[in-house]
Amino acid sequence: MRFVVVSFAFFPHTIRPFFEGIVHTMSELALLGGPKGKTKPFPAWPVFDDRERKAINDVLESRAWWREPGTRTETFEREFAAAHGAKHGIAITNGTHAIEVVMAALGIGMGDEVIVPDSTFVATASAVLFAGAMPVMVDITRDTQCIDPALVEAAITPRTKAIIAVHMGGHPADLDRLGEIARANNLTLVEDCAHAHGSEWRGTRVGNFGIAGTFSFQQSKLMTAGEGGVIITNDDDFELKARSAHDCGRLPGEWFYAHFSYGSNYRLSEWQGAILSAQLTRLDEQTAHRHKNARLLDEMLADVPGITPQALDDRCTRNGHYAYIFHYDKNEFAGASTKRFIEAMTAEGVGNQAAYPPVHALAVFQNGAYRKRLCGDQAKDEHPFLEAEYPETARSAWECYWIPQTNLLGDEADIEEIVTVIKKIQANAGDLV
Ligand SMILES: Cc1ncc(COP(=O)(O)O)c(C=O)c1O
Repeated sequence: MRFVVVSFAFFPHTIRPFFEGIVHTMSELALLGGPKGKTKPFPAWPVFDDRERKAINDVLESRAWWREPGTRTETFEREFAAAHGAKHGIAITNGTHAIEVVMAALGIGMGDEVIVPDSTFVATASAVLFAGAMPVMVDITRDTQCIDPALVEAAITPRTKAIIAVHMGGHPADLDRLGEIARANNLTLVEDCAHAHGSEWRGTRVGNFGIAGTFSFQQSKLMTAGEGGVIITNDDDFELKARSAHDCGRLPGEWFYAHFSYGSNYRLSEWQGAILSAQLTRLDEQTAHRHKNARLLDEMLADVPGITPQALDDRCTRNGHYAYIFHYDKNEFAGASTKRFIEAMTAEGVGNQAAYPPVHALAVFQNGAYRKRLCGDQAKDEHPFLEAEYPETARSAWECYWIPQTNLLGDEADIEEIVTVIKKIQANAGDLV
């Protein structure tokens, strides 16, 4: 609560003391007219300099603007794979398409099921549907916000072909357990690494634990060309199938108009390949910076009641931190709703990236539209998991705050200001209800 001193000089002497002095008018909170808690701006995103300028100009001058005669996208996919310790990289138009290409290369389709987390961007599930298979949602674990391996195991049916793990906010899913489950049940593990460029599990970069890892380069991601994606893999046979699927069913070295399998045009342009090579030169340093700032936030938030950050598993040796996710307990904030808290944080000048709504509850699943992608029995079957409860996903969707990665690129003062803002909102939370 803020108190404002006003002058009552024009009142007669006798009654002045009654009015003069402290008059309660306004809140400390920026949302309610108080001063902003965040005084200096966070670093701008995307980051670019002469590396990107030169890259774009080189493509322009070369007149090779698409990958067929070009070299830049090919170079980038090699660089990105190498930076992640993988054998192959296939640059793709975006992260959604990258999963679609993986599904195509794995031959996943009619009648199949693929297990996905209920807490993710729709793309993880829609790419499965696009293949004509059914995404089966399971809940996440409370601590890491990633797919719960025990629930994955319970969801396996004779139709299950693959598991897609999403490394939520940059934190790897339990790749040890998921790998064991996949091996024991003859399933393929795919890693959706859209949030996790540079993240590591036991010292190995994500994307190397299943048949393939898919990444996104959409504007908000950890490196960007506005849009874009890549698949990494260590499997030669899979690589050839995915490369073919992403290029209209062509095969490397064969005639341009020979098409050997069903595929489509998922090729990334030379502009994007060139920019991404430049962006990649900063990834390591930016990842280390975000990881360090996130640990600082962990420390500084440890004594703030009602704020529980996403846990850092001991086996996660580096978290790329697409976001700094924390659970918000309104009971420690005078009962102010998550929505109100988000409004207050945003007004104070801290970034907010909306958490994902539960996938099973999206209109496309609830109104039955998804069935148009399925065939045979599967199109008519009951899908009881669409009516199930996903308590941890719900908690994540409606009671969590996501500080975007760009805020983590700030300096120590930025991190301190984030914590000051949270404490300020807590101290004045009564004004929000
Ligand atoms: C977890 C996850 N998977 C896949 C995607 C799809 O990536 P894109 O937007 O590049 O298609 C996103 C993008 O937001 C994502 O967050």
